[in-house]
Amino acid sequence: MTIEWRPDDRQFHLHNGMLSMVLRVYEDGTLGGLHFGAPLPTGRSYRHLGPDTFDGFDGRVGDPIPFALPTSGLGDYRVPALVAIGADGSGTISVRYVSHTIAAGKPSLAPLPSTYCETDDEADTLTILLVDDLSGLEVDVRFTLFTDRPVVIRSTTMRATSRELTLRTAMSLSLDLPDADWVMVHLSGTWAREAHVVERSLQPGRVALSSQRGASGAQHNPFLALRRASTDEAAGEAIGCSLVYSGNFLAEAEVDPFGTTRIRIGIEPDTFAWRLAPGESFTTPEAIVAWTDQGLGGLSHAFHDLYRARLTRGAWRDRPRPILLNSWEGTYFDFTADRLVDMARASRDLGVELFVLDDGWFGHRDADDSSLGDWVADRRKLPDGLDGLARRVTELGLGFGLWIEPEMVSPDSDLFRAHPDWAVGTPGRGRTESRQQLVLDMGRPEVVDHLAEAVGAILASAPVSYVKWDMNRNITEPYGLDLPPDRQGEFFHRYILGVYELYRRLTTRFPDILFESCASGGGRFDPGMLAFAPQAWTSDDTDAIERLAIQWGTSLAYPPSAMAAHVSAVPNHQTGRVTPLETRAAVAFFGVFGYELDPTTLDESTRAEIRDQIAFYRRHRTVLQYGRLHRLASPFTDGRRHVAWMSVAADRSTAVVGVYAILNRPSPETHRIRLRGIDPHVEYRVSGWPERSDDPVFRPNLGGRVGADLMANGLTLDLARHDAARLGDYWSRLFVLEAV
Ligand code: DGJ
Repeated sequence: MTIEWRPDDRQFHLHNGMLSMVLRVYEDGTLGGLHFGAPLPTGRSYRHLGPDTFDGFDGRVGDPIPFALPTSGLGDYRVPALVAIGADGSGTISVRYVSHTIAAGKPSLAPLPSTYCETDDEADTLTILLVDDLSGLEVDVRFTLFTDRPVVIRSTTMRATSRELTLRTAMSLSLDLPDADWVMVHLSGTWAREAHVVERSLQPGRVALSSQRGASGAQHNPFLALRRASTDEAAGEAIGCSLVYSGNFLAEAEVDPFGTTRIRIGIEPDTFAWRLAPGESFTTPEAIVAWTDQGLGGLSHAFHDLYRARLTRGAWRDRPRPILLNSWEGTYFDFTADRLVDMARASRDLGVELFVLDDGWFGHRDADDSSLGDWVADRRKLPDGLDGLARRVTELGLGFGLWIEPEMVSPDSDLFRAHPDWAVGTPGRGRTESRQQLVLDMGRPEVVDHLAEAVGAILASAPVSYVKWDMNRNITEPYGLDLPPDRQGEFFHRYILGVYELYRRLTTRFPDILFESCASGGGRFDPGMLAFAPQAWTSDDTDAIERLAIQWGTSLAYPPSAMAAHVSAVPNHQTGRVTPLETRAAVAFFGVFGYELDPTTLDESTRAEIRDQIAFYRRHRTVLQYGRLHRLASPFTDGRRHVAWMSVAADRSTAVVGVYAILNRPSPETHRIRLRGIDPHVEYRVSGWPERSDDPVFRPNLGGRVGADLMANGLTLDLARHDAARLGDYWSRLFVLEAV
């Protein structure tokens, strides 16, 4: 058992040798949080880490008492985890310990997505029952600890028993830390510029990241980390929290006047209210909180390993993901079946394994102004229907993939004409269009039923082996027509539950289809989606240089097997930048690799280069998709000319290192890229890819090197002036390490 209960101290100690979390039931029955971080010995009392005694705030209002489930109104003026308004209108609640259970395994949170155990001996779950006598509110606070992962998983269920209540804040996690010497790290951006790493030292006050858009959003990811000032990628203390949720969220850090820190993460409270009639309950999404002393890299590995192995599920969880060619940037809306088959044939000849037909195949969609909702093939473009096209593609020996955007409806569509009330809008306020489309109210069961039927029928009609599920606008004028006025605060959460329900039905009906989530790129790249779709379209920005930043940031929380990355044409459609084909591939290799261009327009030398790229990726696919990613040189560090990262096979026998130059400079400084994660005692053969004779970057680095030397001294990037001048901007080099 990883959970120790000491009745004399009323103390819980969650421990697995990788971290400890210590909780204590104070004298008044409230739940204290005494420690989260480094592993501590068991069999000991840690009550000295909290107040001597705590029997309510009498005489000590505002003191920084460390709580695990802070509520409002009692004297803790920091941000609360739980706010419930009782029938009397009061928001003061006081939930006190009643009992607890410790059980092997981890319960499912369905209909919410959640991490899971394959066998009950993988984890233990502590459930603490707290009750507010006056309102009758019962709360189950759950903590799960895996035996071999440095994470604690939190969720909470609230039940009204005797009286009605309205939940106004229901955080998934609240964590009190005894100091504020932290640098907060988060992933922020916008369309085509997702997941940029932002860092700031904590100061007194609150810093909040949130979404009120109906999706987790490209603006902020539901992920927040704290690191010590001295923590780097490889070493040092770091805490990270992440929310298994795809809707409106809040992630916040607060430093109080005493210099303590509270972090909380959960459903965004300003757009949330949930009425609980007696007998009803509400369960929060789950939050994951990780601790490591192995730097941001170690923190990422904790999330990567958990999300890859115990959040993602289904037939594709552990399978090599296919190399695909997506039609979008090659054709946009302008294609015929014959043109697509020509593209598929040309892709097949390059070594591509899956051909994906993107937007524009249904209704009469020649631009983004119509047909969403009408999931029937456009016979003008596809005279033999979807099945006819899919068969021609699969006969070439390729898989066939399809784009859908099920949550949306175009005002110009049969679906909208038949069911105008299914589109989200507030009566009397109209509906704001975005990309000339409206959002279907996924909170309504009849909408989900219809989509399961319509999308299910199209997927059943043809040999489809991959689906890209897009979502291209956020919600405005939120209102649930089927909800009474006093339940409108439930709209956003019901929306995302409807999305999960549709995912659940389609992934259950089509267990062999590989789903990829997308929201104009990474606008809903979150753990909730990963529970249904094992990979996501990382960004609409396919520019290799921009992708260095986007993929670097995304990898803080998400594994390479989740990050779709494609090579596209130049000038790049998002930035206008021209980068070498080699660099575009060298960046996209460190994810789920593919192409997004018209392969029929390529000359022979380009085709040959792409064939080599695909052969390379196939050879190293397991390492690149499922290996351990180490970030070596950051695109976010000022003045850094080189970016580098590497993936290492689980048995450390092989590694692939990517080194990328952004802007060249004359008389370059000497520079070393120190490697990580390989075996110090093993002799590796270092080769360069693609092979080049007498290359100034490869020259000093190729041949036999022992792992210890590669980690201590690294690869050498000392370029002579004339060599640097010849290389220009945006070059890249790949190094392959193979144990001799
Ligand atoms: C946005 C996606 O991110 C793109 O890849 C593409 O699928 C378009 N939508 C299609 O409308």
